Amino acid sequence: MPPVYGSAASLRSDQDLLRFAMDSYIAVPENTASGTNIIFTLKEKAGALASTLKLFEEKKINLTHIESRPSKTHPGCYEILVECAKDSDQASVEQIIGLFKKKAESLMVHQPISNIVQTENSVPWFPKKISDIDQFANRVLSYGAELEADHPGFTDEVYRARRKEFADIAANYKHGEKIPRVDYTENEIGAWRTIYEELVNLYPKHACAEFNYIFPLLQQNCGYGPDNIPQLQDVSDFLKDCTGFILRPVAGLLSSRDFLAGLAFRVFHSTQYIRHHSTPKYTPEPDVCHELLGHAPLFADADFAQFSQEIGLASLGASDEMVEKLATLYWFTVEFGVCLQDGQRKAYGAGLLSSFGELQYSMSEEPEVSPFDPSVTAVTKYPITKYQPRYFLAQSFADAKNKLTAWAATIIRPFQVRYNAYTQRIEVLDKVSSVNRLVRDIKSDITTLEDALSKIRAM
Ligand SMILES: [Fe+2]
Repeated sequence: MPPVYGSAASLRSDQDLLRFAMDSYIAVPENTASGTNIIFTLKEKAGALASTLKLFEEKKINLTHIESRPSKTHPGCYEILVECAKDSDQASVEQIIGLFKKKAESLMVHQPISNIVQTENSVPWFPKKISDIDQFANRVLSYGAELEADHPGFTDEVYRARRKEFADIAANYKHGEKIPRVDYTENEIGAWRTIYEELVNLYPKHACAEFNYIFPLLQQNCGYGPDNIPQLQDVSDFLKDCTGFILRPVAGLLSSRDFLAGLAFRVFHSTQYIRHHSTPKYTPEPDVCHELLGHAPLFADADFAQFSQEIGLASLGASDEMVEKLATLYWFTVEFGVCLQDGQRKAYGAGLLSSFGELQYSMSEEPEVSPFDPSVTAVTKYPITKYQPRYFLAQSFADAKNKLTAWAATIIRPFQVRYNAYTQRIEVLDKVSSVNRLVRDIKSDITTLEDALSKIRAM
């Protein structure tokens, strides 16, 4: 394993770098080598820093950056940040860290992710730019016409050929292209109409307020109605205008890791085919009814969009075990979440909002309802072929997002990421330069905020 000194310590080191930069307002050079950063605290006395730095000289470790300042947390001490040259002998760096663990009042160590990947290959690959999604979008667990024997369309050759058409659209799709429009057949529109009419009667009573605010906008702008299955491209354009979320056609189920990675870029993988017309009230897999009625509306809500993206960002480079926990959180929130509004339970999960049977069941006294608590929710087992025996109740999307963010900070991942919406890239915050960029952006936002507040007060 790379030398990461406990999950909390490694996470704190990111925060500490940020705090160091924010507090000191010292401009750290942009192009510093991405070596190990060490922040340690020493008691203030003559020659203490010089004798400490001599240790690096003895180990033949070049330092590319040094900063010091009085410690705010240890009275009478100094905090010192040193950045070791990228080509430093790692064993020598570890010996120095071992010495500091004994001698320093406190110690933080930050290993750049680039070093860890090169030495141990311990961090799973994840997309860094939005077009990287093209690399895994076809890694589906099932494809097109390959239906299971118990699928309602298994013996229908016409349906199987149709599914193949949809699968080919998804397989040939590349990021940035328009999603091909589809002329749905009478049978397909009939299945849509049946479920649409059942659900729109239930939404006013059982759907959350955010959903009920957005749904009429989809009717007005995207062709939602009983006689028309909306086109993915039209819905994607609408969502992009609202929150930056976009839809991408997918042929079947992706792995949890790949699916969640899409959310990190505000990309939602959506099926385009519809369930078999013989069973309009049942589908063994997600279909366009589930995606467009259940999922799409809330991606137009800013808090929900951010909550969904947070799950995606937390999954990037995370361990298999953590991805499973995040997929479970996704299940109990984005798929089957309920929330409290005006003292009443309301649905916001897509699995509820696209199933009139489970929507009514979830609002009854039959299932167990627990408060949303990521540490509990993430390890709760669930069935996938029947109604959920237990739901988790959020106070609001914003509250769920704050709880998720706090929980995600405990993830054992020796780096932090953020999404840059301008470049549509994931930035790995593993170097002083990248943290400096974030500091600059935050300072710019704070300046805007202060200016806005002063103008509001002057009104
Ligand atoms: Fe879903």
